[in-house]
Amino acid sequence: MKALLVPKEQAEDFRKQLLEAGYMDTRRRLKVRGDDLEIPVTGNVPPEFTNFPDIRQEKPEYYENEPTLRDLMEGYVDGDTLDLLPGGWQILGDVVIVSLHPDLYPVRSMLGDAMLTMYPYCKSVYLDGGIEGELRRPTRELITAQDGGENPALAVHTENGCRFKLDVTKVMFSKGNLNERMRMGKLGMGEVVVDMFAGIGYFTIHMAVHGGAARIIAIELNPESHHYLVENTRLNRVEDIVEPILGDCAKKTPIAVADRVVMGYVGSTHHYLPQGIGALKPGGVLHYHETVPEKLMPERAMERIRTEAQVQGRKAEILDWRKVKKYAPGVWHVVVDARIN
Ligand SMILES: C[S@@+](CC[C@H](N)C(=O)[O-])C[C@H]1O[C@@H](n2cnc3c(N)ncnc32)[C@H](O)[C@@H]1O
Repeated sequence: MKALLVPKEQAEDFRKQLLEAGYMDTRRRLKVRGDDLEIPVTGNVPPEFTNFPDIRQEKPEYYENEPTLRDLMEGYVDGDTLDLLPGGWQILGDVVIVSLHPDLYPVRSMLGDAMLTMYPYCKSVYLDGGIEGELRRPTRELITAQDGGENPALAVHTENGCRFKLDVTKVMFSKGNLNERMRMGKLGMGEVVVDMFAGIGYFTIHMAVHGGAARIIAIELNPESHHYLVENTRLNRVEDIVEPILGDCAKKTPIAVADRVVMGYVGSTHHYLPQGIGALKPGGVLHYHETVPEKLMPERAMERIRTEAQVQGRKAEILDWRKVKKYAPGVWHVVVDARIN
C-alpha cells in the first residue's frame, strides 16, 4: 500500500492538503519512520503532490481491521472456494488486475464488487489472462466497474514520481520489474541512451525524469504502446529529452551514437544484439535482458554478449548481472551489464 514520506515538521500541513484534495487513504494510520511520517495515499497521487518520495508500506496500520477478500466473500461461497481466493493482485492507478483460479470464474462479478469495496478509490477490476506474443500484449477481461466512470481500462499509474498512462487491455505493466526500473532511473546522467524495447516508457521515463539523460531514443514496435510512450513523455514533461520512435529496433536502432543501450525484452533478445552493440560508442554500457533456464544463468547471456562483440571486432567487459524476476518455473528474467570497448 502506498504512502508518502514527509518530514515531521511539514507533515501536518501536507496531510491537510492531501485530505482536501482527496488523495489521502483515511483507512490507514500515519506511521512514524525516523524523522519522517508515512502519510497513506490512494493509488493515483499526481506529481504536484509528490515532491516527497512515495514508498510501499510493508506493514500498513488500519484504524479498523479492513475486511479481507475472504471476509467479504464469506457466506457467498463455500469453504473450498474461499480457499481458492487470490492472495495477491496488481493495482495500476485506480484499476485492479487479478488472476483467478478457473473455479472462481462463476463468482467473478461478486469477487470484483468485493475488491471495489476493499479499494473504494478504484474504478474497475479486470481478470488477468496473462501476457502473450512478440508485442507482449495482455489478455484482460472486465469483471466489474464503478457506475458512470470514464473508460474503465484507462489507468494512470504513479511510481517513484513517474506517471504511466496505459490501457490495461492493450499494454502490459510488469510489477516484477519495479526495482530494475528504479535502478535505470539512477543511471544515464548527461548521456545519449537508446531504449530498444521501450514499450510505454517503462525504463525511458524513469531515466528521463530521474537519471538526467541528455537524450533518450526510445524505440517501440507496437503502435498502441508507442501511443502511450508519446503520451507518457508529455505527461512527465520530458519531451525535450525523449525521442519516441515507432518501428522495429532491428531497423531503427542508430549506429555508434549511444553511451548506454537498454535491451529490455524477453525470449528473443539475443537476435537484436548486433544492433544493441552496434549502437554503442566505444566504452558504452549495455543492459541486456533475457529469460534463461536456471542452469544456464548467467553464463549464456554473458557468452552471447562476448561473442557478438567479438564479431564486431570489439571487446565486452562484463560489469554485473542480476535477477530481475522469476519468469516461469526454472526460468529467470536476468539482466547483464557490460561495457563494450
Ligand atoms: C516486455 S515489453 C518491455 C518491458 C520493459 N522493458 C519492462 O521491463 O517493463 C517489450 C516491448 O518491446 C516491444 N517490441 C517487441 N519487439 C520489438 C522490436 N523488434 N522493436 C521494437 N520494440 C519491440 C513490444 O511491443 C513491447 O512493448
